[in-house]
Amino acid sequence: MESDTKVSIYFGPHSWFEKQLGKEKRHYLLDTVNDYDEAKRRIRHTIEGQESTEIMTPTPRSDCLIVMSSDYASLQEHAITNFIGLIRQINPKHLILNNPPKMIYAQLVRAHNPAVEFYTYPAVTRDTLIKFRDGFSQHLVGQQKVREQMLAALYPLTKEGRTRPIVLMFYGPSGVGKTETAKFINGLLGGELLRKQFSMFHSDKFASYVFGGTHSESSFARDLLDRSSGVILIDEFDKANLVFHRAFYEIFDQGIFEDKNYRVKIGPTLIICTSNYGSEDEIRLALGDALYSRFDALIRFEPLSPDEIRQVINRMVDNHVDNLSADEQAILERDEIKSKFDAHTGRYGNVRELGKLVEEVISVYLVRAMLTEVTTCNNPVLLKNEESAK
Ligand SMILES: Nc1ncnc2c1ncn2[C@@H]1O[C@H](COP(=O)(O)OP(=O)(O)O)[C@@H](O)[C@H]1O
Ligand SMILES: [Mg+2]
Repeated sequence: MESDTKVSIYFGPHSWFEKQLGKEKRHYLLDTVNDYDEAKRRIRHTIEGQESTEIMTPTPRSDCLIVMSSDYASLQEHAITNFIGLIRQINPKHLILNNPPKMIYAQLVRAHNPAVEFYTYPAVTRDTLIKFRDGFSQHLVGQQKVREQMLAALYPLTKEGRTRPIVLMFYGPSGVGKTETAKFINGLLGGELLRKQFSMFHSDKFASYVFGGTHSESSFARDLLDRSSGVILIDEFDKANLVFHRAFYEIFDQGIFEDKNYRVKIGPTLIICTSNYGSEDEIRLALGDALYSRFDALIRFEPLSPDEIRQVINRMVDNHVDNLSADEQAILERDEIKSKFDAHTGRYGNVRELGKLVEEVISVYLVRAMLTEVTTCNNPVLLKNEESAK
């Protein structure tokens, strides 16, 4: 039986996929499959001893059957290997899929001549570069060389007709603004940053994440397909095992990432890897020439000077206090809090720890104020609470 099911395939983030759907009444593949299984069980039950071979036909024929990116993980492997058979059975008028695995994609291309659309990811333009140049020091203290190097490194992405990504390696000590810089550039481009921390994955779990496992397992390829961001951040690249390095050759070179189940074309995107390497020589030695040479630029982040650390602290205090309620803000003396850290600026190399300390110090002030109020009764927070209780 020839199928007249019309097929549309969308590669891109979920939010965009949702917007592509028309006004047709929607059915979802997983619901439909569940209904089928349920109905089959009922038939077997009623016709005792007789195995029903009857093919279930839903009534009425579904106008629009939707398959979401996360659905493939819930399908049985045989439903994926014979996806066409499943669709013939359901026989919808219109089948719409988001980010299908390559096995399903190939079947659909062979049998249904699908319309395929790709999401257009935010691109680096001249305007992005201007905003990066002018906004850098509002987001980052120091690291002026990073700013200049980044502008030069991003430039090729502004050229039309570029198809491959730009791959950068940020290196330097912890807590000096590497991740912050990646967030800043992604913020200029838009979309939720795809950030993968490679230290979080170990051994066999990581193998299936990178090379692909069963359809139900999470994978880097699917995360790439589902992403909405213009930047792909691979944090702690130095913590990934050597055996995974070859998985990155093709994506760095051609912008194509392929694992067992998925094939993703990422195009002229910005890939940022971060690491704690101390020098270019160290990177070359640790990663080997093959991978080392695939980075378009290696960008060194310097340790922060005591004065720069002070500026970072001041910003942290201001940010933190700005997010408190007006009553809490009234209790706090910003300058006094900031001065508490004067003695620390020389000693603290790691700003990340300072961030926690800032929070702690502010909490100590707030709680102290609250508790002394119990006896002296002039804490504005408490007074207000008492008033409203009356
Ligand atoms: N140069 C900097 N300018 C402003 N804030 C910074 C700087 N370096 C670190 N920070 C602050 O410290 C925290 C940790 O910085 P992060 O960028 O994550 O460090 P890393 O270099 O380890 O990636 C961030 O929340 C950020 O606000
Ligand atoms: Mg970081």
